Amino acid sequence: MDARDWDLFLLPYEQAIEELKVKFKTLRSELKVRESYAPIEFVTGRVKRISSILEKAKKLNVPMDRIDTGIEDIAGIRIMCQFVEDIQRVAEIIRKRQDLILVYEKDYVTHYKESGYRSFHMIVEYPVQTALGFKKVLAEIQIRTLAMNFWATIEHSLIYKYKESLPPHVRERLKKAAEAASQLDTEMSSIRAEILDAQRGFEDRSNIVSKVLSDIQDLYFYTRVREAAQFQLKFNELWDREDVWGLKELSLEVQAAIMRAKKNSGQS
Ligand code: GTP
Ligand code: MG
Repeated sequence: MDARDWDLFLLPYEQAIEELKVKFKTLRSELKVRESYAPIEFVTGRVKRISSILEKAKKLNVPMDRIDTGIEDIAGIRIMCQFVEDIQRVAEIIRKRQDLILVYEKDYVTHYKESGYRSFHMIVEYPVQTALGFKKVLAEIQIRTLAMNFWATIEHSLIYKYKESLPPHVRERLKKAAEAASQLDTEMSSIRAEILDAQRGFEDRSNIVSKVLSDIQDLYFYTRVREAAQFQLKFNELWDREDVWGLKELSLEVQAAIMRAKKNSGQS
């Protein structure tokens, strides 16, 4: 293939990358509006350099007229997430998309590579509309956390710089660093879970407050004025003390009082 052949060959891959980047960036904005949280932090994409395609074709024994099926990552998309949990969320969304076909997945998050590398890979078939018509291209989507990306970027640049001459003790330290990155992800996830819990607790408290107040109103409706006033005083006291447990107990007491009031009003 001469230079012009390469340009033509790479065109649909460039188009696929441009389109997929727009689509995943749009997905990020959409989820931010819908759920006020986006499992995608940022998206990058690249078309493999010709020299790398040639090297890989040689390594894998792929003949030149079959590189479009023999090399799966000529088009590459990277999706970075804040938390490990986000990776499966994004993968699930990709699996359900109608504009691409999943070919296969590699889960290097649960089964990390010997090097220490972690990421979730999805090989997909993506159709592009070219001037000559419809063409399917393969693309590799790598989904990873910011910590996984940090490690992979640095490890890649070191490997690239030192090639095979990376001393064994450096490889070992890189593995240790990968372990540290993994622990960072775990720690961040547990901090996040705690924050979500606290937010749920907050929700809980505001729900209980409106429940108690509306139940006290109901007591007035049943003309249990003195009882209602007492509950109101108790509520004020608990509220001042920020006693959520007390508020929960009070809620039960007020509900019992309503039941009694209902029963009596039924009898009379
Ligand atoms: P290549 O590794 O690309 O030759 O293909 P493969 O068939 O072995 O696929 P694999 O899923 O192992 O790797 C695909 C891509 O994942 C690579 O091109 C890298 O971008 C990334 N990757 C895989 N292993 C490593 C690793 O040990 N370190 C880093 N930094 N990246 C890796
Ligand atoms: Mg590999």
